[in-house]
Amino acid sequence: MLRFPTSKKTFMDQIKLAIIGTGGMAHTHASAFSAIKEVNLVACCDVVRERAEDFAAKHSIPFVFTDVDEMLSTIELHAVTNVTPDRFHLPIGLKVLDKKLHLLSEKPLAETFQDARMLADAAEQAGVVHMVNLSYRRSAALYEAKRMIDADKIGRVMHFEADYLQSWLAQPAWGDWRENDAWLWRLSTDHGSKGVLGDIGVHIFDLAGFPIGAYETVQCVLKTFPKAENDQIGAYRLDANDSFTAMVEMENGALGTVQASRWATGYINTLRLQIHGEHGALRLTLDEKDRWDVLELCLGDNLLKGKWRGKKCPPVPDNYQRFISAILNGHLGEPDFWRGAEIQKVLDAAYMSDYKQSWEQL
Ligand SMILES: NC(=O)c1ccc[n+]([C@@H]2O[C@H](COP(=O)([O-])OP(=O)(O)OC[C@H]3O[C@@H](n4cnc5c(N)ncnc54)[C@H](O)[C@@H]3O)[C@@H](O)[C@H]2O)c1
Repeated sequence: MLRFPTSKKTFMDQIKLAIIGTGGMAHTHASAFSAIKEVNLVACCDVVRERAEDFAAKHSIPFVFTDVDEMLSTIELHAVTNVTPDRFHLPIGLKVLDKKLHLLSEKPLAETFQDARMLADAAEQAGVVHMVNLSYRRSAALYEAKRMIDADKIGRVMHFEADYLQSWLAQPAWGDWRENDAWLWRLSTDHGSKGVLGDIGVHIFDLAGFPIGAYETVQCVLKTFPKAENDQIGAYRLDANDSFTAMVEMENGALGTVQASRWATGYINTLRLQIHGEHGALRLTLDEKDRWDVLELCLGDNLLKGKWRGKKCPPVPDNYQRFISAILNGHLGEPDFWRGAEIQKVLDAAYMSDYKQSWEQL
């Protein structure tokens, strides 16, 4: 049950939303929510006052805070989006849910499956809309791939390959990682990072699992390459993994590889998924060239020549639109915290597999 009146009329112009954490990704949240007419972006909060004030000025946000507790107890809010670094998703998320506010949380939902499940339980008890920002769910091609697999258009899925390729450790297209806290915390377990596996592994495991199905076993190798003197820059010990390769078996028997790297020179930010079924194949590429609505197909006679054709897919909403629509319409939003927890379980198993050099059962 949701906290708010279900009447759309009462709700119009009344979703008072606050953004916690005003760093890089928060600008995407602010721009996306500002474009939704039912949202009133009323407050933002960051421990760095100047950053929060600049952010508020840029996005015309009236109230600025540097303390989450103060914000939650001072102003009226209906919903919050938590865009802080990974380690704060749990403690801040629990505070927000304690106030029974709808919550969109950045990914990964938490640092461990146990913590992610704690958030999902708390959200369910609070009776609010809860979503995790697995942002590649805005790909229309991904939804079409799922629809086609569910409709048995390629037959039983036998094999797949899923890659998430970044190269910000090798080139400065997004700035020099050595000089920016936003990149440095991602390289340090002391600062709550689970490395590339937690940061973007979460996306690629979701991207493959969403159309194909649940993971059953995983074997993973993590690698942390030396990249600074004594593997330390200032307060940051650079010990979090920056490349991984995993072999997986799915509950439906399909075998696949899932990998991600920050050393994938030649790519800035590209996700690729290829799915091979008994009777056909699907593939999609999500990158900055914005082909997010094109699904490539190899079906029928084209199987004889290995020939692919592109299919333009109908648009799907992004997570910001889904979150607001779920609040307005009194239904649950997708991907929800249970999905965030499910993927976190796969990430934990991948970690354990690397540590024990073993196949891990999910
Ligand atoms: N969904 C996506 O595609 C996507 C993309 C980028 C980042 N992210 C996620 O978004 C989150 C933030 O990433 P980012 O790149 O914006 O990081 P960032 O370091 O640029 O920004 C984080 C901000 O949170 C603030 N902060 C830290 N602790 C706080 C606290 N206790 N209370 C209030 N503010 C606090 C920091 O001062 C900083 O301004 C991460 O969890 C990251 O994984 C998601």
